[in-house]
Amino acid sequence: MLKGKHVLLGITGSIAAYKAAYLTRLLVKEGAEVKVVMTAAAKQFITPLTMATLSHNPILVEFFDPENGQWNSHVSLGLWADIYLIAPASADTLSKMACGIADNLLLTTYLSARCPVMAAPAMDLDMYAHPATQESLRILRKRGVSIVEAASGELASGLEGKGRMEEPEIIVERIKELLDGVPVRQESPSVRTLAGRRAVVTSGPTREAIDPVRFISNHSSGKMASAIADELALRGADVTVVSGPAAVYPSSPEVEVQNVITAEEMYRATVREYDRGCDITVLCAAVADFTPASPSSTKIKKDGSRMILELLPTKDIAAAIGERRRSGGVIAGFALETDNARSNALSKLSRKNMDMIVLNSMGDPGAGFGVDTNKVTVFRRDGTSQDVPFGSKKEVAAAIVDNIENLLERGC
Ligand code: PMT
Repeated sequence: MLKGKHVLLGITGSIAAYKAAYLTRLLVKEGAEVKVVMTAAAKQFITPLTMATLSHNPILVEFFDPENGQWNSHVSLGLWADIYLIAPASADTLSKMACGIADNLLLTTYLSARCPVMAAPAMDLDMYAHPATQESLRILRKRGVSIVEAASGELASGLEGKGRMEEPEIIVERIKELLDGVPVRQESPSVRTLAGRRAVVTSGPTREAIDPVRFISNHSSGKMASAIADELALRGADVTVVSGPAAVYPSSPEVEVQNVITAEEMYRATVREYDRGCDITVLCAAVADFTPASPSSTKIKKDGSRMILELLPTKDIAAAIGERRRSGGVIAGFALETDNARSNALSKLSRKNMDMIVLNSMGDPGAGFGVDTNKVTVFRRDGTSQDVPFGSKKEVAAAIVDNIENLLERGC
């Protein structure tokens, strides 16, 4: 899939620079043409000779070659590349990228690149966790740079923690996904990438009373919505769940739960929370579409005759949120379909004015109501989609939140 692609690899000063050699081999094996830009510090960690041999191209470090005065144009490098991958990306380089500092060829190329840019950070755990580094990463994500989260493990310092550059095989997969239009997955959600964001999630079924003992409802357990709420909270968002009478609730103590029973109550609570200011709205509840027109205040007696129940449509919460939408936030809905799944989901996406819709089909075994697993397709407003493979609702929730984050970073 990388055949003929131009990959510009930027290497910065980090112990993980040794992995750039293997990364280059993998890219070349995949058929990509690789050119390498190094910072002066990177040369201390891996030699230009190694990188030139593996990439089959001369290495670029300076703005011009001191031997012959040949100019290395950062502009033409940026135009040549289909993707600019900075791996390893040191704290210093990330911070300079975020500030727009252009004091070496790698950075000037970043500022002039028109292609997608991806960075794979590598540093010590405390440097990685430092608010300054996290702020740089947040700024870069917001500007569209795809960040391949650092992995956890043993670090060059001897300490254990998060900061290792992700493995080359995984970075190559991320490049393929990015060039294919799929948002980059956040491998580890332990970094609070959604800190400062407010989220509202609807969950579970609603109940519509027929009389004091009977109601209309459905099989939603609240598992999918709870997994999403926990994932959002894990990434630092301030999460409120508006839940109908569900079997499962979020496990994170940081998530606020507001209990409701009917579609009308869920409508009021969700709209109120949205109006309080909300960056992320996930409409995962299976809201009853109809409610009895005149519920009986006493138990309806059975007298052997046929009974016809008149139903009225409930308010559509997703559509109401879609009407009130504010710029900069993400509205994500769900579609549960039995037939014409794709076209029905796409029609709900546009009719309800949402940014993305998650389709789970009743036809897929292990997907939808009640079970601990799911298999979904995420359709986005811009026409792109992602098939999220069968997995636990927790894994599927992580992929859904990755999509939400990606949309937030792009300002939708
Ligand atoms: O709770 P689980 O057992 O884990 O199951 C998860 C789930 C199957 C319930 C969940 O994944 C799911 O698909 N939820 C949405 C189910 C649904 O009602 O789909 P829909 O196609 O009827 O509705 C489309 C969208 O409009 C949904 O985002 C829904 O929340 C929203 N809606 C629908 C009706 C209504 N009156 N108000 C709404 O907001």
